[in-house]
Amino acid sequence: MSAQNDSKKVTLRDLNALKNSGTKIASLTAYDAGFAAMLDKSGMDFILVGDSLGMVVQGRETTIPVTIDEIIYHTQMVVRGTERAMVMADLPFMSYSCAKDCLNNAARLMKEGGAEIVKLEWGALEISMVSRLTECGIPVCAHLGLTPQAIYKYGAYRVQGREEKTAKQMIDDARALEEAGADMLLLECVPTNLAAKITKNAGVPVIGIGAGPKVDGQILVLYDILDIWPGKRTRFSKNYMAEGGTIQKAVESFVTDVKMCRFPTAEYSFE
Ligand code: KIV
Repeated sequence: MSAQNDSKKVTLRDLNALKNSGTKIASLTAYDAGFAAMLDKSGMDFILVGDSLGMVVQGRETTIPVTIDEIIYHTQMVVRGTERAMVMADLPFMSYSCAKDCLNNAARLMKEGGAEIVKLEWGALEISMVSRLTECGIPVCAHLGLTPQAIYKYGAYRVQGREEKTAKQMIDDARALEEAGADMLLLECVPTNLAAKITKNAGVPVIGIGAGPKVDGQILVLYDILDIWPGKRTRFSKNYMAEGGTIQKAVESFVTDVKMCRFPTAEYSFE
């Protein structure tokens, strides 16, 4: 049910095969070796070292202050705890604002951190940066929809793409990013039908967080499913500790629910 049943490393090729076979991809964030090892053991397909660490680990209000050195430090730990899952790392705010920084910092995530794919948030960014990363052989995931690094532009964490114009723009952006070489797309806080349309058009895996069930896979923030900050969990995250009992069981239940298409239900999705 996971990307591979043996202990071989999960690769982008495996994730594409899951998309093509209609098997859902499961992912959670992790920020250290211990949690990464638990996720790895549960059959997780990939692990994201997200800049959400600024909020859930460092206790900050936003992801804005997170630095590239901090992401590298946490990626190194996650890589040490992981044998099988693919490891993705976030390019934090302003670490990819020009082509030189983008290439340099993406390379650092891979060379120093050990990441196998980098993620960047799509905004006013030039599409040519995704092409340059691709030309340099750096696998890229493009994050669309609600992009938390732009929180001060939005003013609040809100569902994106509800109006016809913004929905069309997201569909066009997703296509352009894939044409530029993006290996994966990640949709955050997007209405179910829009996410379904983008996924149907896409030739690469589309992962959702608050994007409904009709995408190729699901990702959530680990601390949310473990209810580590009670009262702060987002509307689209489920508390798996409530039924799991132990951390390992909670993580395994999440993977099983995703693979069996039991998560997310309408309660955790947006119309
Ligand atoms: O930083 C992060 O954890 C993320 C997820 C919300 C997808 O980008």
